Amino acid sequence: MDSKILIAPSILSADFTCLGKEIKSVEKAGADWIHVDVMDGHFVPNLTLGPVVLHWIRKVTSLVLDVHLMIDQPEKYVEPFAKAGADSITFHCEAPSNPREVITLIRKYGKNVGVSLRPKTPLSAIASYLHKVDLVLIMTVEPGFGGQKFMPEMLPKIKELKSFIKEKNLSCKIEVDGGINKETGILTVKEGADILVAGNSIFSQKSRSNALKKIRSSVDKNG
Ligand code: DX5
Ligand code: ZN
Repeated sequence: MDSKILIAPSILSADFTCLGKEIKSVEKAGADWIHVDVMDGHFVPNLTLGPVVLHWIRKVTSLVLDVHLMIDQPEKYVEPFAKAGADSITFHCEAPSNPREVITLIRKYGKNVGVSLRPKTPLSAIASYLHKVDLVLIMTVEPGFGGQKFMPEMLPKIKELKSFIKEKNLSCKIEVDGGINKETGILTVKEGADILVAGNSIFSQKSRSNALKKIRSSVDKNG
């Protein structure tokens, strides 16, 4: 693991009337990735965006586009999101699909592969194919909406995953998503998180740039 903690602002909480400007503001402030939440109204109760919007996002930034698919049948949408410019595609292990097939498909398009777990899903659900993925996205809120409260009870899960990765000598990264801010981010980093997704704590602030920098400095200071 390289020691730099990556910060991935989630555009779910951005002002969509000026999405390009929002993305540029966090890019300038040192964002590493841009996290794009895709919801289908089935897997989660909310609806967000599709490949058409991703296509335009791709034109405004060269940062890694980290697509988080909170949808049923992710295999149907790997190709459109890959072609629209995703760099990393994360699906949920709870989606009614064959995870190995989804992984193979994402690889076919040369993209980074991620698998995500809802808070209630144990790590044992993904243990048998962990060696095939590049990242595990641990949800620290119930997926579906931005601005929810971080679940501290997920910290032991991050720690357990970190130990498992070390023990098996795997190379996958740990990403955390939900309620991450300058106080909670560092707690997850201490347990082994490598990538922090942050939506509301960045985009609810007048200066997106200052908000992102505060998360960065808390991680750098305490990490
Ligand atoms: C929630 C999404 C998150 C969300 C995080 O289902 O997957 O990426 O945008 O937002 P905050 O940081 O506001 O909890
Ligand atoms: Zn997300």
